[in-house]
Amino acid sequence: MNRFYITTPIYYVNARPHLGHSYSTMVADALVRLHRLQGEEAFFVTGSDEHGDKIVQAAEKVGKDPQSFVDEISLLFQTLWPQLGIENYRFARTTDPAHAKIVQDLLQKVYDAGDIYFGEFSGHYCYGCERFYTEKELVDGLCPQHLTSPALISEKNYFFKMSKYLPWLKEYIETHPDFIRPERYRSEALGMLEAGALDDLCISRPKTRLTWGIDLPFDHNYVCYVWFDALLTYISALGGPSGTDFATFWPGEHLVAKDILKPHAVFWPAMLKSMGLPLYKHLNVHGYWLSRDTKMSKSLGNIVDPKAMADAYGIDAFRYYLFREMHFGSDASFSEENMVARINADLANDLGNLFSRVLAMAAKYCSSRAPKMGTLTEEDTVLVDLCSHAMQNFLQLFSAIKFAEGLESLWEFVRALNKYVDSQAPWALAKKNETERLATVMAVLLAGMRKIALCLWPVMPTASCTMLKQLGIDVDTQTVPCSMDYECTHFDALPEGQELALKSNIFPRRESKDEKKDKATKKEQNEAKAEENTTIDIGAFHALDIRVGTIEQAEKHPNADTILVLHIDFGSLGVRQILSGLAAYYKPEELVHKQVVALLNLKPRKIRGLVSNGMVLTAESDGKVVLLSPEHLVDNGGTVG
Ligand code: MSP
Repeated sequence: MNRFYITTPIYYVNARPHLGHSYSTMVADALVRLHRLQGEEAFFVTGSDEHGDKIVQAAEKVGKDPQSFVDEISLLFQTLWPQLGIENYRFARTTDPAHAKIVQDLLQKVYDAGDIYFGEFSGHYCYGCERFYTEKELVDGLCPQHLTSPALISEKNYFFKMSKYLPWLKEYIETHPDFIRPERYRSEALGMLEAGALDDLCISRPKTRLTWGIDLPFDHNYVCYVWFDALLTYISALGGPSGTDFATFWPGEHLVAKDILKPHAVFWPAMLKSMGLPLYKHLNVHGYWLSRDTKMSKSLGNIVDPKAMADAYGIDAFRYYLFREMHFGSDASFSEENMVARINADLANDLGNLFSRVLAMAAKYCSSRAPKMGTLTEEDTVLVDLCSHAMQNFLQLFSAIKFAEGLESLWEFVRALNKYVDSQAPWALAKKNETERLATVMAVLLAGMRKIALCLWPVMPTASCTMLKQLGIDVDTQTVPCSMDYECTHFDALPEGQELALKSNIFPRRESKDEKKDKATKKEQNEAKAEENTTIDIGAFHALDIRVGTIEQAEKHPNADTILVLHIDFGSLGVRQILSGLAAYYKPEELVHKQVVALLNLKPRKIRGLVSNGMVLTAESDGKVVLLSPEHLVDNGGTVG
């Protein structure tokens, strides 16, 4: 049986996981799934790189001891992966004692072979990179990565005789064009070897300077350099060179971004060679995800939070976008706008629409049961051939880490299926009662849709399972749904009578930021309008003629039990008759001589035969109605404002 083993970088735990880490880990997950689809036993290793100055400094900054600090951050990585649909991995930590033991055994082996020596070294040390730089490597005297001035350090240390292996390595890379891919990084690695700037590798740190690391087995005054320790995770996660998993899965492949090309393209092969272990098969190097066209950084505030994206747009759509957008090897710019456009075009319109219209037609014409595939016409076989071609291309491109191209090739088939719906027009066949042809067209469509769902399992595991379930195939994200070798060359119909979903809406249309903004503006405008309607300006208030008056006479309305008829004296304005619903709260005699407030310029209203020329103002309290009165006596006819 073929086997596939791949690793992601072992991430530093001095910062929370972001889009960049997530992309590498999703790629590893997708490649493992792809190999499982091809019948291979496959898994990947990811993990956390927990030793070194950087971590100690980060822990100190937040007032924590290194171990609790690394436990906390490592957990963030461990909990994030399943939330992004990532499965099929082992999570390795460099503070695991089993890892430390393997690192020490291998260091001893290299030491015994005479490839490690003790020497004095003074050089330019960058704390950010955890390494010395040679004069030639510095750019204007600064670290090329951090653009900071390195510290000049002189100390006795242990060195790995890397230079001894460099001519061999150069030849190896030259004669193995696929060892480092894509090509641009192979050239870059060769460039490093040709520049002659590389020397022996300092692999120790004196404990006077750093204790947070693995002890050198041959000198306990030193700890191991963090890169030597971390790279060995790739084999310690397999139980070390004597473990059975090592025998089964090594050599594997690695997946990194361009930032850590040198340790993987130069240090690691030299280390493996010195240890007498087989070299890895491929180093797959991708570019950087930029955000707003620049490098993501805390200070710029442009770090993309993968969990927030997956929550907002769905894990599968987010994954699809990343695979479709980045051309492996080149940098790509992450933009939510772009993502929405891509999701709407490829997922909502092309794929989602295909599923929703075909399943709706299946409900209408086939009672949501898979129909019988009859004899295929020429149009059908063209489509079947295209399917096989697209699937093979997809597999080949995906295996060659050309994800965007692979998906594009698959989408040719998705679009062809949509066109087939239009050209075969099942609704017209139904109208003409061509039941056999209708069944065949529907069967071809359903079989094609199944193929697409299968191919997409590595990229969109959950959506792939949902699509398959809608076609009546019960799977979960961990169960390999098929064997691709067979699927590429056979175009089987779904078993006749298999129950299908009544409808489908897997990829809802998403709103772009602009659309959201438009909506928000409209909402604001509507709210403002509503507010305009419920509030008045001061002019409207001044239009009210509110006055104080004294009740001269009060009696019950002869025809309405709840109403009292009041005669109120408003001074120079005269006496007015005003009707008010006060009968339940006041006896008429209680009201006589009371000063009240009333609105006078209200249109006169007739209530059960009597006219009311205004309205007495009241307030409600505990379900009762009380009259409003001035605090002390005022002139009748006095205005209220
Ligand atoms: N600890 C080392 C790796 C040791 S491997 C034996 C390290 N860790 S890291 O946390 O800095 O991770 C670097 C890796 O994270 C990159 O190689 C890449 O896989 C991923 N990314 C981090 N930022 C990235 C982008 N902006 N874009 C794409 N991936 C990047 O280096």
